[in-house]
Amino acid sequence: MRAFHRSNTRGCAADLARTRLLIEIPVDIPGQPSSVLVARGALENLASILTMRAGTKLPRRALLCFDRNCTAHAQQAARVLRAAGVVVTEFGLHATEDAKSAAVVETIWDAALAARLDRGDCFIAIGGGIVGDLVGFAAATYLRGVRVVQIPTTLLSMVDAAIGGKTGINRTLPEGGLGKNLVGAFWQPSITIVDANTLRTLPKRELRSGLAECVKHGLIADATLFHDIARDANELVNNHEPSIDRLLPRAIVVKTAIVARDPLERGERAKLNLGHTFGHAIETIPTASGKLLHGEAVAIGLVSAAAAARAMQMLSAHEETNITNALTSCGLPRSFQGETSAAEVMRRMGFDKKAEGGSLKLILPKGIGACEIVENPPPEVVLEALRAIGIA
Ligand code: GLY
Repeated sequence: MRAFHRSNTRGCAADLARTRLLIEIPVDIPGQPSSVLVARGALENLASILTMRAGTKLPRRALLCFDRNCTAHAQQAARVLRAAGVVVTEFGLHATEDAKSAAVVETIWDAALAARLDRGDCFIAIGGGIVGDLVGFAAATYLRGVRVVQIPTTLLSMVDAAIGGKTGINRTLPEGGLGKNLVGAFWQPSITIVDANTLRTLPKRELRSGLAECVKHGLIADATLFHDIARDANELVNNHEPSIDRLLPRAIVVKTAIVARDPLERGERAKLNLGHTFGHAIETIPTASGKLLHGEAVAIGLVSAAAAARAMQMLSAHEETNITNALTSCGLPRSFQGETSAAEVMRRMGFDKKAEGGSLKLILPKGIGACEIVENPPPEVVLEALRAIGIA
């Protein structure tokens, strides 16, 4: 992590002095350097931030795509950019999984064409993971690729989805059900701007959902982070700002470090899918209380992964309990409450893109703070993992 680089652009530096600037975390991908800027008040200083970043610079035109639930944030960004002379076209989206479709990508391309965006211009995504994935994919393909600035407004996208350049849309599977992120591209954002003030309007359930990814990052690479989240869970679920400000850079750095080492997921980056093989399989199955949020599915997936790791002697009973308890303290579900069967979930897992060449790959915790990629786990381990979340 490093302090924000200030150029001698005086007006911009003055604007940024008013920002409660926290930290800039580089994403050192060879040939595609990027960074995550974590700063309360960043949105009000968006033009200055873009002006001062060599990797972004102020565009002439911007297509500002936003989740309609974030209209106020989008209007603020649009106002600031227009005041700096940028021609801004606003494009509101209903951010549901259904919107992650080829049809919606086409409408974004068409909006960019109508606004005459050229390759020097940029797309800006304001919202959660759905908007980031969708707009990132549209940017990756428009004119063979234009810059995209990611401005995540959910905790989940701040620590995970808006970092590292995974973009994409969903497709229906041949045998039914939604195949998540089956079409997409790696397209690094020019910059990811995290303004934690936007969490003030985020529903509590969404905040808890984001904590699942933070717990995941602790489990993957930072045992202290994991234990601190468990200890501070009550503050975090209530958006206690000093606790959130301490959490954000630590959770982000787990992701940026892995992405910098393996941007295209040739190996180590798969570890970021901890909890996701089980999580994706159950995410689109209706539960007794409606649809699971992504982070809720990941939380259940983490419980499953912990049970599988325990069955493979990679985790002690005490560590497994610690994981389940940490998730519970964060107000996250620990089992699946709905109608399904082990056979159905295993079918869905087989379709997951992490299953390569017919083999199944699980990411499992190895103690707290490390994990391993396990190829073709024994079926009884998978069945045990599903039993642990109430699926038989
Ligand atoms: N969300 C997992 C990854 O970006 O690789």
